[in-house]
Amino acid sequence: MKIHHIGYLVDNIENAAREFERLGFSRRGETVEDTSREVYILFLYNAEQAVELIQPVGETSPVYGLRKKYRNSPYHICYETDDLQREIETMTNINRGYVLIQPPKPAPAIPGCPNVAFLMNSHIGIIELVEMR
Ligand code: NI
Repeated sequence: MKIHHIGYLVDNIENAAREFERLGFSRRGETVEDTSREVYILFLYNAEQAVELIQPVGETSPVYGLRKKYRNSPYHICYETDDLQREIETMTNINRGYVLIQPPKPAPAIPGCPNVAFLMNSHIGIIELVEMR
């Protein structure tokens, strides 16, 4: 599956963006607030490689608790699919062993605002799927 981006959970999106810029990344768009997930999001690109910086808006954000494990570090890789529902059904099949942890919802920080979903696997942690048509 084609990788869309690598998601970093950060305490301060501006500080993190500055470091990625020093590593050759450029901002794509402005920092966006995703109100349904209570996070700020900023995308940066280095050629084709994208990183997504995610900063919890506050302590009620669903990702706030993940900071214990993933503070200022990558915590998900996002993969592209052309059929999100079918991919979720395949991956949550008993033989694949993924658990759906966040059902499909629009992602306002991604151009076109496609639906994304999050799954958990006991061997590789959290992955995100984005529906690109
Ligand atoms: Ni993501």
